[in-house]
Amino acid sequence: MPPRKRVYSGIQPTAVMTIGNYFGAVQNWVRLQDECDCVYCVVDLHAMTAPYDAAELRHASTEMFVSLLAAGIDPDRTIVYIQSTVPEQTELCWMLATLTSLGDLSRMTQFKEKSGLLKDGLAEDDGAFISAGLLFYPVLQAADILAYRADCVPVGQDQSQHLELSRGIAKRFNSRFGYLFPEPETLHTPITKVLSTADPTRKMSKSLGPKHYIGLFEEEDSIRRKIRSAVTDSGAAPVGGAGDRQASPGIENLLTLLAACGHRDDAKRMREDYFAGTLRYVDLKGLTADALVALTSEMRDRRADILRRETDLEGRIMEMGERARAVAGETLALAREKMGTFAPPA
Ligand code: AMP
Ligand code: TRP
Repeated sequence: MPPRKRVYSGIQPTAVMTIGNYFGAVQNWVRLQDECDCVYCVVDLHAMTAPYDAAELRHASTEMFVSLLAAGIDPDRTIVYIQSTVPEQTELCWMLATLTSLGDLSRMTQFKEKSGLLKDGLAEDDGAFISAGLLFYPVLQAADILAYRADCVPVGQDQSQHLELSRGIAKRFNSRFGYLFPEPETLHTPITKVLSTADPTRKMSKSLGPKHYIGLFEEEDSIRRKIRSAVTDSGAAPVGGAGDRQASPGIENLLTLLAACGHRDDAKRMREDYFAGTLRYVDLKGLTADALVALTSEMRDRRADILRRETDLEGRIMEMGERARAVAGETLALAREKMGTFAPPA
């Protein structure tokens, strides 16, 4: 049998995991565990590049760790850990920074967006504080991936540029110091994009406020209320063949959710009804709410179970960090040797 591929991915800590995070990323992470050796990271150090509150960060990191377990990341098969528990990665980040050009970093779209440099020439001269952490963000991301010598990285399209940079850094290291890092491939899987039910022209996101997102562990009543009041469309429903025509954004979103919950046949049928002009929105909403409630109640039970079982959550986080450090430490030892630096005293 060929060796299993190593998969690595990271997610920013947030206290609430939304069904957008789940259908758009985490569900895929769960599936990949069957075919690959997976390492998943809660990237708290990356989260520090935006304004944040210290106590909240620790809370959000812990919550995200628990949410990943509850969503089906299996710590017996997979390494799932919080980034700051592995200092080997930050040392590697420094080493890799010496192989990264300032030009490449300042050309990163995410850096330009987040630093405000895309906004009418806003720059530090105008009094804006642009942290070097924001600039270094993709180097740390490369260190994350390369510390585990990952083959594949499942991420959304918006991370392609960062992955390209990671490959460039790996290549430069390998050619300068001898082979150490596989060039990590981007694993573009079909991503389910979930929209806000309150405003289906926008992506479901916590930053829009509570009525715009559904939490993966949210209570039944609240989910039913949000689906019942979901914006569908205004005006008459289009009539004609389904083909590859698009329904209104609100209807498409509900159909997407229904299918993502595993009810593909129902979603297909209702889509046809929609174009035939016979779909009753209350039926679509009812089925979608039922499907979401079934999914989230299972998630909620698993979460409660984990919190009951894991009486020492912090200990669990440390244990996972140790497992991650063992892998990253091996890579770092080789990188130090190749680059000519010392290891810290034992
Ligand atoms: P964020 O919390 O926005 O950093 O997202 C974490 C992960 O969840 C990323 O891989 C996003 O692409 C994914 N994600 C977040 N919101 C959605 C959404 N509404 N639909 C699909 N995927 C999402
Ligand atoms: N930058 C990624 C995001 O915003 C998160 C991330 C950090 C990541 N390190 C990673 C993703 C390593 C993949 C691999 O979504």
